Amino acid sequence: MVIELVKTNQDPSLNGKKTLRDTDSLKNQIKEAAKKRNAIILAHIYQRLEVQDIADHVGDSLALSRFAAKTDADVIIFCGVHFMAETAKLLNPKKTVLLPDLQSGCPMADMISKDDLNDFKQENNNAPVVCYINSSAAVKAESDVCCTSTNAVEVVKSFSADELIFVPDKGLGVWVQEQIPNKKLHIYDGFCPTHYQITPKDVFIMREKYPEAVVIAHPECDPEVWRLADFVGSTSQIYKFVDKYEKNQFIILSEQGLVARMQRDMAHKTIVTTFPLPLCPNMKYHKLENVLSSITENKNVIEIDSRYFDRAAATIHKMFEITESGINNKNLWEGPKRAT
Ligand code: 13P
Ligand code: SF4
Repeated sequence: MVIELVKTNQDPSLNGKKTLRDTDSLKNQIKEAAKKRNAIILAHIYQRLEVQDIADHVGDSLALSRFAAKTDADVIIFCGVHFMAETAKLLNPKKTVLLPDLQSGCPMADMISKDDLNDFKQENNNAPVVCYINSSAAVKAESDVCCTSTNAVEVVKSFSADELIFVPDKGLGVWVQEQIPNKKLHIYDGFCPTHYQITPKDVFIMREKYPEAVVIAHPECDPEVWRLADFVGSTSQIYKFVDKYEKNQFIILSEQGLVARMQRDMAHKTIVTTFPLPLCPNMKYHKLENVLSSITENKNVIEIDSRYFDRAAATIHKMFEITESGINNKNLWEGPKRAT
């Protein structure tokens, strides 16, 4: 099948009914409402571009958790998936955290419960547990430390144990295992349905169409897919790589929102992805309308079961302590720089 260059910066929400004037008016109302409540809006880079545009900060899960940890706002509006809003709450017990649409979950995080994790521990010598930040507070509470895709290798390396458990993402787990062959990782069988949608055949098709392009993959892809890439990295690493690299053609094996944002920020480069678009539907539930109503009506407040709160929060603080990702590290990615 021949694939056209897919310009993913056609925001899927701007599909006819809403005019630009409506959008501008909503954006202004959101800004005013947020100011009134001393609220900060954080948006993951997989969000619709119009939602990214009203955010105070855009970033990946690590950057956003650092912004959440440092903010002095009273309210955090989190335009990302549920575990990200939970992370913000765990870092800010006293603040109000709102998720504009509660349907915005992460199927990968839902692939493991705390009971599944406890069974997996028993099957695997009760080794120390590193859990990906894409997990519930209950699962974090049963883990030793959490990590993001940016610092997973560093977190695993920090343990003196030769054997560890890594949950729930097998794509990232296998990637970490290959970087640290001297440790044995027991990897859970979870995966990201969006990244797993990309197949080796899709990569071959795109390489044929763009033979000069650099192929870049997120480690959440199937290992058979990221093994075909020239560079494997987390969201921030992908963004920085494409921004800095001297070549001008890139095939991105990751989610559509990141690709759309890079297409807009780096319009002089050719940045494409596979087809059908690797789109995380859960990330797209947030729209300007529900961002506004969550602020004005204090809707969808994130609460965390008190049985898990302290232990789950400890795993995130430990991640910050044992890695260079310390909350105040100035060298870490703080999201796209360009004004929108
Ligand atoms: P990042 O840590 O790269 O933001 O990834 C989170 C996520 O859910 C990617 O699918
Ligand atoms: Fe979860 Fe995958 Fe969506 Fe990320 S892209 S939120 S891992 S389903």
